[in-house]
Amino acid sequence: MMLTVHTISELRAAIRHAKQQGKRIGFVPTMGNLHTGHIHLVTTAKEQSDVVVCSIFVNPTQFGANEDFGSYPRTLAADSLLLEAAACDILFAPSAQEMYQNGTSQQTSVTVAGLSEQLCGEFRPTHFAGVATVVSKLFNLVQPDVAFFGEKDFQQLAVIRRLTQELCFPIEIVGVPTQRADDGLALSSRNGYLSPEERAQAPAIYQTLQQLRTAILNGAREYTMLCEATVLHLQKMGFAPDYVAICRADNLQAASATDDDLVILVAAKLGKTRLIDNLSVNLN
Ligand code: PAJ
Repeated sequence: MMLTVHTISELRAAIRHAKQQGKRIGFVPTMGNLHTGHIHLVTTAKEQSDVVVCSIFVNPTQFGANEDFGSYPRTLAADSLLLEAAACDILFAPSAQEMYQNGTSQQTSVTVAGLSEQLCGEFRPTHFAGVATVVSKLFNLVQPDVAFFGEKDFQQLAVIRRLTQELCFPIEIVGVPTQRADDGLALSSRNGYLSPEERAQAPAIYQTLQQLRTAILNGAREYTMLCEATVLHLQKMGFAPDYVAICRADNLQAASATDDDLVILVAAKLGKTRLIDNLSVNLN
């Protein structure tokens, strides 16, 4: 049976109990509205730990003023069923009041400078501080041995790796490959915002990433020009791209022609829905 807790004190009691028994704790933080991508994180966590904790919390501080915090889907009953079926052990589903006892403009926050200012950070300037702060709080509450994050949110994963190292959290961070629909669209809770026409158009992002990867594998090295051309290509197909970038996978700096471990990252709006995706390219 999965244990569901809504308060910090109940969570701490459950964690204390698991730790006393010497269990290895695996943690999967989410904002709920769970899909196969999230569940894949849970099953991966189950393989690599004894007790799996999943959190569901739509974190207000990582949404910008004009973003979708209000309309973000909240589907706790369905999520609970999926987690139970995936053999999750503990579900932590706190209220905003429980997570931010002093209100959401608490005086303490975690900022990963640099990494958080580029790519998505340029278009969502407060987003990664919100993510870094809530994940730090969750790490302190759950005290996992290992935590699982999707490569779908590649920049988020880089931010989490950096804060874990720099704040000395004794936690192993595992990146899990992006789960996709059959037509290639990366699974995302935000895909539910797409109209049927937009949903049919959306896989073009992944196809474009694949084309770009093929071009690089075939020797194209004019990365700035390639990205500019790809922005135009996406615009012609009806997207409003925020950016297309070819970066070093290790630090997300713009890649140069001599780098060999690359990632191509895209963020683009389709109608009112903002989609992100990425694809690794290894030139070794
Ligand atoms: P959320 O968007 O719910 O995602 C929770 C986790 O699931 C993240 O690690 C994300 O990268 C992963 N994920 C989402 N779609 C995926 C897919 N198609 N394949 C593989 N993994 C996928 O990311 C967040 O929530 C929040 O920012 C959070 C880290 C919980 C902090 O609030």
